[in-house]
Parts: sequence; C-alpha cells; structure tokens
Amino acid sequence: MEEVWGRDHVILAHHPNSMLDSRVKLWPAIFILADFGRYPPNIANVGKDVIAPYKHVIRSYVNDSSDFDSRPTLLYFQGAIYRKDGGFARQELFYLLKDEKDVHFQFGSVQKDGVGKASRGMHSSKFCLNIAGDTPSSNRLFDAIASHCVPVIISDDIELPYEDVLDYSQFCIFVRTSDAVREKFLLNLIRSIKKDEWTRMWQRLKEVENLFEFQYPSREGDAVQMIWQAVARKVPAMRLKLNKLRRFSRFGTQKDGELRKIPSPGNFW
Ligand SMILES: *[C@@H]1O[C@H](CO)[C@@H](O)[C@H](O)[C@H]1NC(C)=O
Repeated sequence: MEEVWGRDHVILAHHPNSMLDSRVKLWPAIFILADFGRYPPNIANVGKDVIAPYKHVIRSYVNDSSDFDSRPTLLYFQGAIYRKDGGFARQELFYLLKDEKDVHFQFGSVQKDGVGKASRGMHSSKFCLNIAGDTPSSNRLFDAIASHCVPVIISDDIELPYEDVLDYSQFCIFVRTSDAVREKFLLNLIRSIKKDEWTRMWQRLKEVENLFEFQYPSREGDAVQMIWQAVARKVPAMRLKLNKLRRFSRFGTQKDGELRKIPSPGNFW
C-alpha cells in the first residue's frame, strides 16, 4: 500500500508552482491555493481545499468619493502577454479593444515603479478586466477590488476565495471566454451597465474589500480570518471521510496499511 501523508495537515502552497513534486504525495491534506490550474483534480479540488486571495499591489482607494461620471476610463486592463494555454483570450481581446478611446489595454506587468501609475489608472476606471493568463487566477482581481473598479472576469475555470459564503455576482461581471472574443460582445455588455447598477456594485466592493486585506495582526473579517474560517468549514467533511474509513478497520483487510496511518480522533485536528 502506498504511503498516505497529510490528512491532519493544512498546507499553504499559494504560488502556482509551490511544492511541485511533493504535492502529489500530499493529496489527503487541505491545501491553501491561489487556484487549481496546475493541480490534477484528484490532488486538489474545491471540495477539499481553500482558495486564498493574492495580496493586492495597487494602493487601496481610501476615502473613495469617486462616482460613475468621475471615472473617465470605461475599461482598464494591464497584464502580461501569455502565449500558453489561457493566453489566447488576451491576444484576441487586445485586437478587439485596442482602438476604443475609453479603453485602456496595455501589455506588460505592473512593476514596482509602475504601481503609482496603475493605481491612478484603476482608481479612475469604471470596470477592470481580469483575463485568464497562464493560470486561471490573477492578482489583478484583487487590485480591482482594492480600487473599487468593478471586475470583469473572463476566466472560465477561475476559483474564488470564500465563494461558499460570498456572492461575487453582486460586485463582479462574469463573461464566458467564448462570448468575450465575439466581435462587440464585451463592449456592448459593459456599455449596457448604467450608473445605477454600477453604483450598487461599487458600493458592494467597498463593503467587501476588507475580506481580501491581509493584516498583521489580523483583524475581524480580514483575509487572514476569512481563510481560517474557510479551513474550519472543511473540517466536518474531513471528519466524515475519516470516520467512514474506520468502519472496517478491525478486520485488517488489504486496506490495513492505509488505515494504520489515520490518526486517532484525539490527535486529529
Ligand atoms: C480619510 O478620511 C478620514 C476621515 O475624514 C481622515 O481622517 C483620513 O486622513 C483620510 N485618509 C486619507 C488617506 O485621505
């Protein structure tokens, strides 16, 4: 019987490449991840694991008194060009949007010296695009939230932090990739969102932004506490699985090798 490790562990592996080799052996553990893009579904999945936000690089918009009319840019995108898997949508969208006057679409990741410029850009935009890159997640989403710039998410396989308790449709627009790359589809959709609806989403962004803020020491309802609460919500399902596995443990069947590695209830969790 193959060794089974990690049932009683929570493993923080937030970078998409972290623990590239050992992750395969640690499938019974709860992982805290940015997304499942580079994980086979039997190793990591939304049932067992926890998605955590990225730390935003854009400055928080403190005392944001902007409104729909005072944000001149309709749609903002700044990000790297990827030629791998998810990257084709970025190229397609660039060609569809590059001549629109109220759209900012620029390739190149935000470097340290560009943070001020990107902060001003996102703080003065109504909508901010998140397009799948080489992984489904993107730290741009959390920059958009910190900027109160309504996120437009084009990433069919994205997993979002704490979605079991948070309804992202209240403050994000989701567009399927196959729709987004159709001529005019995206801009028609975005232009159809008027001041009232946008303002409701902007208001909601200001309410939820703290859920994505990592603070030390952590404070009520910030990202640190939200992640631990998400881990706690996984525990009953893990207990159920373990207890079921114990049903026939007295018979020492061929599963014996695996069962001996399951911790006793006293030292589990
Ligand atoms: C935001 O507003 C509060 C209350 O008016 C003020 O004390 C604070 O200095 C402001 N912060 C910034 C960054 O403008």
